[in-house]
Amino acid sequence: MKELMEPIRTLVDFRRGVVNPDRVIERKTSDMQGMYVDELALKKLLSQGNPFIYQIREVNIPQETGHIIYSTTIIYPGKVGQEYFMTKGHFHAKEGTAEIYFCLEGEGYLLMQTRQGRVSAIHMKPGVLGYIPPYWGHRTINTGNKEFVFLTLFPGDAGHNYQIIQKCGFAKIMVEEDGRAVLKDNPKYTPLNG
Ligand code: PA5
Ligand code: NI
Repeated sequence: MKELMEPIRTLVDFRRGVVNPDRVIERKTSDMQGMYVDELALKKLLSQGNPFIYQIREVNIPQETGHIIYSTTIIYPGKVGQEYFMTKGHFHAKEGTAEIYFCLEGEGYLLMQTRQGRVSAIHMKPGVLGYIPPYWGHRTINTGNKEFVFLTLFPGDAGHNYQIIQKCGFAKIMVEEDGRAVLKDNPKYTPLNG
């Protein structure tokens, strides 16, 4: 039998996420190159100090079957051109694994997409739980004017595959139009088998 793991107590602040994470991953504008439609706007942001786009606060959980990994993500408010700040987005390496996103603060969208290009979006606000079924790639977008914070829980053996999104992008983008968040076709999207 494997050695027994000790239970963990984690304090989660609704506004700042996991209070004492084992690991903090920061993603800056420079980490998002090629992901936004407006390349010039991205370059401009880079020259204006390369601001942080989002931060992941992780707790050390074994990346193994049977475990549930959890972390919080904070997406800062802002835009690259007309497109809102967002995560890179990914499929799970083990694609038949699901995930739960639970919004703690702020507002935004959980955008999901299948390998075949089917898209679904859930509007997130505090108290909303989004269930990402197996085989759906996912990205989150901050459409509000303050930090968008959510808790994520997923199987220990799910893993992350960023390559598909890096290569194809998402079929839809979330842009501001007349002060409102609007989901539009992504002119840079290249379908996986297209
Ligand atoms: O596992 C998840 O789906 C989340 O914890 C994300 O990793 C997090 O929100 C950051 O997004 P991404 O991994 O696409 O950069
Ligand atoms: Ni995920």
